[in-house]
Formats: sequence, C-alpha cells, structure tokens
Amino acid sequence: MYNVIRVLQQLEVTAMNRKWWHEKVAYQIYPKSFMDSNGDGIGDLKGVIRKLDYLKELGIDLIWLSPIYQSPFIDQGYDISDYYKIAEEFGTMEEFDLLLKEAKERGIQIVMDLVINHCSSDHVWFKKALADPEGEYADYFYFVKGKNGNPPSNYRSYFGGSTWEPVPGTDKYYLHLFAKEQPDLNWENPKVREELFGMVNWWLDKGIAGFRIDAIINIKKDLAFPDFEPDGPDGMCRATRMVEEVEGIGELLGELKRETFAKHDAFTVGEVFNMKDGELEEFVGDDGYFSTMFDFAPHVQTSGEHGWYDTGDVDFLTWKRAIINSQLECQGKAYLANIIENHDEPRGASRYLPEYARTPDGTKMLGTVSVLLRGIPFIYQGQEIGMQNCRREDINDYDDIDTYNQFHLALETGLTKEQALEVCYKYSRDNARTPMQWDTTENAGFTKGTPWLSVNENYRKINVAVQDKDEDSVLNYYRRLIRLRKSEEWKEVFVYGEFVPMYEEDEKIFAYERRTEEKSAIVFANFGQEAVTVELKEKVKEVLLSNKNRSVEKGIDRISLEACEVIVVSV
Ligand code: GLC
Ligand code: CA
Repeated sequence: MYNVIRVLQQLEVTAMNRKWWHEKVAYQIYPKSFMDSNGDGIGDLKGVIRKLDYLKELGIDLIWLSPIYQSPFIDQGYDISDYYKIAEEFGTMEEFDLLLKEAKERGIQIVMDLVINHCSSDHVWFKKALADPEGEYADYFYFVKGKNGNPPSNYRSYFGGSTWEPVPGTDKYYLHLFAKEQPDLNWENPKVREELFGMVNWWLDKGIAGFRIDAIINIKKDLAFPDFEPDGPDGMCRATRMVEEVEGIGELLGELKRETFAKHDAFTVGEVFNMKDGELEEFVGDDGYFSTMFDFAPHVQTSGEHGWYDTGDVDFLTWKRAIINSQLECQGKAYLANIIENHDEPRGASRYLPEYARTPDGTKMLGTVSVLLRGIPFIYQGQEIGMQNCRREDINDYDDIDTYNQFHLALETGLTKEQALEVCYKYSRDNARTPMQWDTTENAGFTKGTPWLSVNENYRKINVAVQDKDEDSVLNYYRRLIRLRKSEEWKEVFVYGEFVPMYEEDEKIFAYERRTEEKSAIVFANFGQEAVTVELKEKVKEVLLSNKNRSVEKGIDRISLEACEVIVVSV
C-alpha cells in the first residue's frame, strides 16, 4: 500500500510538462554596480561583457539584467523614459547586441527587466499628456478629477506620500503608485497595451530569452478608486489595498502572454506580491501567465506593518516554515524562483544568519539550503562571495528614494537619527547595491574612478580575486554547489525530484530530501550554535557536498553536525 501511495505521489509531483528553462541557474546583475569599464564610476554593458567568463565558470545559464533602458534614474532605472534605448550611462544598443552575442557563445541567455506598470515622467507619452490634458495621451495614464479639492482617493504610494499628483492647470490628478516621477500606465486603454506588446515583441525578436516582470500585480486598477480605512497617522491607506481588492487582472495578463511571450516561448519571472489565494496555477502553472515567479513568502514574513522601523528580526522557524510551505504548495503545480536576496532586499548573509553564523561556513550553509530547493535558483551578484550589508554614517551617503522615505518615516515615529540609520543598515536596498567586490585594489576593482555608491569597506577580505585562489572560499563552494545541481548524475533529482521536508519543527536544523523513484539526496544544515546529531531512515551512500570538507563512513545512519555545518548526502 505504502508503495502504491509513493508511486502516485511521485506521478503527481512530476506531472508537469518539462520546459526548456526548468534546469537553468540564473544570476541577477544590477548593472550600475557590477563592473565599470570606463572609469565614470557607473557599471556598464562593456563591464558585463568582461565578466561573462566569470559567470560561465560559476555555472550560470541565464542573466537577469535590472533595467538598462534610458532613464532619469529617479528610481535607479525603474523609471523608463524610452523603452527602445539603452541608458547612455550603460552604453549603446551595439554594445547590448554584442553582449547578447558574447553571452550566447558561452551558452548564456539574457533576460531583461520589464517595467510596464509605469514609465518615467520624462517619457514622451507623459510629456504629451501634460501638454494636452484633454488629449489622446492623457488617456495613456490615469488623469482623474479630485474630490472636493482633495485627491481622488486616500492611497499612500510605495515610496510615501499620496499616489496622486496634481496635473498643472487642471482640477485633475495623475496616479503614481510609486514615485511621482513614475506615472502609472493605463492598461485599460487598448492603445497602451498595443504599444507595450509591440515593444515586448521587439526585444524578444532581438533574441533575448525573456523578462523579469516588475511590479506586475499593480497593473489592474479599480477605476472607482474607492477610499479605504486609513492605516496610519497620515490618514491614508497603503495603495496595495486597492490592488488586493480589485478583480480582473487575469484578463490583462492572459492577453500579455498571448500577444508576446507565448509567441516566442519566452521565459518570464514575475515579481508578484499580494496575489489572491488560489491563483497559483493561474499565474505560474503549466499554462500560467508566467513561467515562474519569485517566492517572496520567506521575505515578507518579517516585513514591518508600517515600514522598516517596525520590522522584526528573522525567526529561524518562521522563515523555514515559509519556505517549506511554498515548496509543498507548488509541488506538481508550479516551479517558483528561489532567492535569498535581490536589489530590493538587504544581503541574505546579514539578514537570515544569526550573528555567530555570519561566517564563510554560515554563508555556504545558507546558499546550499536555497540553491537545492525545487525551483529556479536566482543568485544575486555578490551573493556567491558572501557580500554583506554596508554601514553608513549619514543618510546622504545613500542613493535610494525608498531609503530616504523609510529613514524619514522612522524619524517621524520618534527614532533618533542614529536609530533610524541603524534601521537603514538593516533594511536599505542600498545594502545590496554597493559595487561588486572584484579584488583588493582601490574601490574593489569595480571602477578606476569614483563609484556612484561607495564600496563596502570589507572588500579587502570579501572579494572575487582572493576567493578564486582559495579552494575553501564561499565562491569555490558556490561553484561546486551549482555544479552538483546541474550534474548529469543529480540534475534529475535536484531539478525535478520531489521535495520532502525533514525535522520540520526543529528550531535549529533545516533538512530536506530531494528524490525521484530511483535516487535520493538529503540536505542537512545545522543553523544552531551547538552540535546536533541527525538520524536517517536509510543508510548513507556518499557525501555529495560539505562545507567542512567532511567524509562520512558509508552505511552509517546517524550524522553529527557542528554549528553552521551543512552536508548533502545520497542515500
Ligand atoms: C520593483 C523593483 C524596485 C522598483 C519598483 C518600482 O519592486 O524591483 O526596485 O523600485 O518595482 O518599479
Ligand atoms: Ca561606466
């Protein structure tokens, strides 16, 4: 009976159609901070090209580039003023084409960032709209009449303040869920959709593999723009309330997919927060709107209700449960994209590891439990060398609209300047946006000029050049980790195998099995400060990976793990 159930479970787990991107390992590049080739202090496309061999050696198949389009950089490129141009700071379209070609020669595909909930207020559409608020282009945006001299509704934008900004010379306001320089595009207007779909197809025709899709859950608006119960002392409510309540996003996403991605068999990964319950398969099932979406469940569980200042510390068990739940929920239904950090989050090694574990061993342990999950691993630049949060003494040393907002919010609630800076040190997006640490020379080898955002002082210890030469480094461990995941022998298990949690309620151990009918591998990690012993139901065959270069005797069924030790064994 047990066997029958097992086989049935197995069938269910592997029931999904196989897709070309299931086996890929992805890497996120934040171009402004990756590699500067001309000494202006800003990373660029030529810099990316120079580092392709490095990425190839790491085992990367897909690169997601954060936005490289023309932009005034109010939100670091997430405010696009021309979707068909490369930002001058980053290079030219010829250089982009060269990047595509050079990457392809190394078996690497490029995924662009698709920011289509909003554009920049510098975009020609918006300029025309302002110039003629009754004209055609006003309808590319949401120009809405105010109520009794007030904005149309009481929504607070993601970056603070009202989502409504007056349209000069009129009694109307335009909607911006993010900064006022990021006006929301009107997806109800068929002309807007046509323009956007045409642009998406233009890039896909160029030969990119697909897109990471920014803030996409926000594109559907309730055109009545109802007020909601205020949730803060400013009398406003977060704009996500409207996003969560409104129905009908599926039609828009379905059309987007049909008109663009589906025609190219493109890979798409959605940035989706606030999805409604039960929509998983509709979004990322076999026939979903996107190929995959990021699993933010472990990230949002500590989000503060009002902002960074009331964000709680990560609790190991809560974090682990969030990951396990996502894994089990998706089994047989979808593949999620797994991350421990990105350009909007602090560094994972600073956030998820307790003080005593912020070591090379701890960092390797964190990487292992993440990369071997079921789903597509996305590694964020610098994660593979264990880059960490960066302390700054002055708010002006940050260069991020979100950080400024959160800093002031913290001050308003009564925190001192020092306490507010401490909050930024923990949660600022700039923690992850410091220049990539390549070597021990000045500015970590990122630039010969002055970097746009200063480098983390710890670069003399944590950098690629030093780690490259050290067999035991985090970098070389990541190379082995990715190689294991992609190896002919274990790929089937780590890509397609079932995920089975172990020691689920344990407060120190993170353990799971990945298995097919033929083979099984188990990951054991001890996040605690004391040694522990784990027991297996089956006997160990071999050690596949260890952060302590451990060998264990064949045939044993108990393993003791030191603090911050991770081991992957076959059974
Ligand atoms: C996404 C991006 C973030 C940006 C925002 C607005 O969340 O990841 O960096 O600020 O969208 O485009
Ligand atoms: Ca440059």
